[in-house]
Amino acid sequence: MKVLVAGGAGFIGSHLIDALIDKGHEVICVDNYFIGSNKNIQHLFNNPKFSMYEEDLTDFEVLKGIFEKEKPEYVFHMAANSDIQKSALNPQIEYKNTYTTTFHLLECMRIYDIKKFFFCSTSAVYGDAHGEEMYENYAPLEPISYYGACKLGSESLIHAYSYMNHMHSLIFRFPNVIGPRLTHGVIFDFIKKLKKNPKELEILGDGLQTKPYLYVLDLINCIMENYEKVEEGVTIYNVGDHSSTSVTDIAKMVCEVMGLEDVAFHYTGGKAGWKGDVPVFMYNLDKIHSTGWKASMTSDEAVYKTIEAVLQK
Ligand SMILES: NC(=O)c1ccc[n+]([C@@H]2O[C@H](COP(=O)([O-])OP(=O)(O)OC[C@H]3O[C@@H](n4cnc5c(N)ncnc54)[C@H](O)[C@@H]3O)[C@@H](O)[C@H]2O)c1
Repeated sequence: MKVLVAGGAGFIGSHLIDALIDKGHEVICVDNYFIGSNKNIQHLFNNPKFSMYEEDLTDFEVLKGIFEKEKPEYVFHMAANSDIQKSALNPQIEYKNTYTTTFHLLECMRIYDIKKFFFCSTSAVYGDAHGEEMYENYAPLEPISYYGACKLGSESLIHAYSYMNHMHSLIFRFPNVIGPRLTHGVIFDFIKKLKKNPKELEILGDGLQTKPYLYVLDLINCIMENYEKVEEGVTIYNVGDHSSTSVTDIAKMVCEVMGLEDVAFHYTGGKAGWKGDVPVFMYNLDKIHSTGWKASMTSDEAVYKTIEAVLQK
C-alpha cells in the first residue's frame, strides 16, 4: 500500500516510516524540517520505497499537488509543533503547525477520496483532570495549553470529516514519548545542563510532576498492530503505561547514568514546570489493552534507555 506520512522526519514519524517500510509499504514523507531532521531519514534516501517532499503542510496548493501525484491510500498525520514550551510564548505556532496541518490533510483527503487516517493526539486534550482517571470518553475536555487546544480542534475536524466523507480514522492519545532520536524535553534538558555544570541542576517546578513515559518503539508497535483494523468513523485510544516517573527521579537517573554524585538540585518551585503543563495525570488503558497490546517497558525503563540513547548521540 502507498502511504503518506506527514511529519515523517520527526522523532516518532521517522520510526514509524522504518516500520512501514519493513512491512513492505511504499512511503511518501512530507516534512519541512521545522523540528524534524533529515538525519532521521537519510538511511532511506536510496530506498526505492521511500520518497521525500521537503514542503510545508500549510502550503495547501503544494500539498494538493502531492496528493494529486501520489494518491496515497492511507495518511498518517505525525506533524505538529511538539515543543509546547515554545508555543506558550507564540500560539501562532500551534495554529499553523498543529491545527492547520490537520485541516489541510483532511481537505486533501476529501478532495482525492482517501479514506484511512491516523492521527497523533495527546493527553493534553484532557487538560488538568486533577488526578482523576481519564477514559477516552472523559468530559469535559478543557485543554490548558495552546498545543492541547489545537490537538482537540484537530480531533473535532477529524470527527466532522470522517462523518461527512465516510472516512476511517484512528486517533491515539499518548503521553510523553521518549527514545532514540528524541530532540527535546526533560531528559534532553537535564543532560544538556549537567554537561555544562555537573555540580548543580536547575529543575523546573517542585520536581513532583509525575507522568507516564512511553518508549517510542512500544508506541510504534501499537500503531503497527492497530492501523489496519480501523473502521468507518473515529476510533480513539489512550496509549501508554500505568507506571510513571517523577521529574526528580528522572534527574537522579540522569546523574546515575552520567556517573555524577552529589549534584545539588535547585527547584524553581510551583506544581507545574511551566504554564500549560499538567503536573500529574492518570490514563485508563483498558480499551487499548483489550486489543492485546501492552507496553513492553515501564516508564522508568523507558527513561533509563532514553538517557543512554541521548548520551550516545
Ligand atoms: N513526543 C511526544 O511526547 C508526543 C506526545 C503526544 C503526542 N505527540 C504527537 O506526536 C506527533 C509526533 O511527535 P514528535 O515527538 O515526533 O515530534 P517532532 O517535532 O519530532 O515531529 C513532528 C514533525 O512534524 C514536522 N512539521 C511540523 N510542522 C510542519 C509543517 N507545517 N509542515 C511540514 N512538516 C511539519 C516537523 O518538522 C517534525 O519533523 C506530533 O503530532 C506530536 O504532537 C508527541
